[in-house]
Amino acid sequence: MEKIMVTGGSKLQGTVKAHGSKNAILPLISASILASRNQVSIRNVPTGLEDVTTITQLLQSLGIHVDMSDDMVTIHAEKFDSTEAPYELVCKMRASVTVLGPLLARKKYARVPLPGGCAIGSRPIDQHLKGLEALGAEFKIGHGYVEGFVPTQLRGNNVYLDIPSVGATQNILMAATLAKGVTTIVNAACEPEIQDLANFLNQMGARIEGAGTPFITIEGVDFLRGTDYSVIPDRIEVGTYMIAAAITRGDVFIEQAKSKHLTSLIVKMREMGVTVLECENGIHVSGPDEIKPIDIKTLPYPGFPTDLQSPIMVLQLAANGTSMLTETVFEDRFMHVEEFRRMGANIKINGQTALIEGNHPLSGTQVMATDLRAGAALVLAGLIAEGTTEVRELRHIDRGYIDLVGNLKSLGAKIERTKLESNPFLQQESLS
Ligand code: EPZ
Repeated sequence: MEKIMVTGGSKLQGTVKAHGSKNAILPLISASILASRNQVSIRNVPTGLEDVTTITQLLQSLGIHVDMSDDMVTIHAEKFDSTEAPYELVCKMRASVTVLGPLLARKKYARVPLPGGCAIGSRPIDQHLKGLEALGAEFKIGHGYVEGFVPTQLRGNNVYLDIPSVGATQNILMAATLAKGVTTIVNAACEPEIQDLANFLNQMGARIEGAGTPFITIEGVDFLRGTDYSVIPDRIEVGTYMIAAAITRGDVFIEQAKSKHLTSLIVKMREMGVTVLECENGIHVSGPDEIKPIDIKTLPYPGFPTDLQSPIMVLQLAANGTSMLTETVFEDRFMHVEEFRRMGANIKINGQTALIEGNHPLSGTQVMATDLRAGAALVLAGLIAEGTTEVRELRHIDRGYIDLVGNLKSLGAKIERTKLESNPFLQQESLS
């Protein structure tokens, strides 16, 4: 077990480079199951992430050949035999459920463990199943598994999503590429990761229009073939470093960042007084001496991303006044608030809204990551707290951030990743 020790007070300065997007590469790897001819090669892959390892192991457990080297993944799915996703992999990562659509389209059968809940809510898949049933799939749910069958052939249909679910849109989109006829998805998710998936599938021979809008049309084809593709940069990783620069009053350039994927964050940070320059090959952020409080509400894209809710709360904690933060996407995504309170933060929760008192010095102490974005947010809070903050449960952070410590250290942060001693309180003495 390891821990991150971060000491507050450093201004971050310099350049970091964005990696490929975790939330884009996971569905791309699931979609590779659809390629019955040729190999799939995907570049700019964040191969160091736990979640990428998990999804590639899942494909290998199906009998699909997967190679990973540096930032590239090659996949041969021309032939494979298994249609059952193993529990020990699915329980590690909900996104595994996006193999359901491709398996039903390729093999007309799939058996996938129901994804467990997680720290941010129950995470149901009713919208996934509703959409796939509209295409002709039938499901049996029991003993913690969902079993899907396609009695004859997937057929195009009109699908309306009650919620613009990212995962449901991905599953239905992938299945519809090989359905007979035309499918429309109404109230589809519009995230950049959906657009990236549609671009990838179209390069494989699919016929998709409207991705990135709430109305997507897919004309089914007979087969898809492998292609060579490069995944988009990780907008949530970029947003995390943008906020780190602002809270430390630093001056940071994030290379490869695509500002068009972060309009809501850029606008809100500018309203807080942060200087954000949108450059050709990245984003430049300079933190102001005074940060203005601001009210923010998370929404499906292009609204403010829920994945940056816990990080932006740190900027609100550093603001000169009181801010509100409302979470509308997940039912229980304020687990990090208790940890911020341990650092001295004054935050009141009323339902889905947090009232955050800024200008309140934080003090370093032991804290625990509860989900991957909350883990990153606790490290950010440590950058501005008095003294040293010890962040534990790093497995969450490792799911979504490549070398967060190394990147922050390269920008001047006083931060280390070390072994968790058996009795930290004795060690605590030696720190002071
Ligand atoms: C994706 O999760 C992301 N994960 C999440 O990022 C992100 O927070 C989320 O989209 C929203 O943007 C990946 O892409 C791997 P949803 P997903 O289906 O697809 C409810 C991170 O930190 N819902 O859009 O699971 C659901 O409970 C992760 O990188 C249903 O009710 O999100 C939630 O409240 C965390 N029924 C809301 O919709 C369904 O069938 C949004 O979920 C599906 C979802």
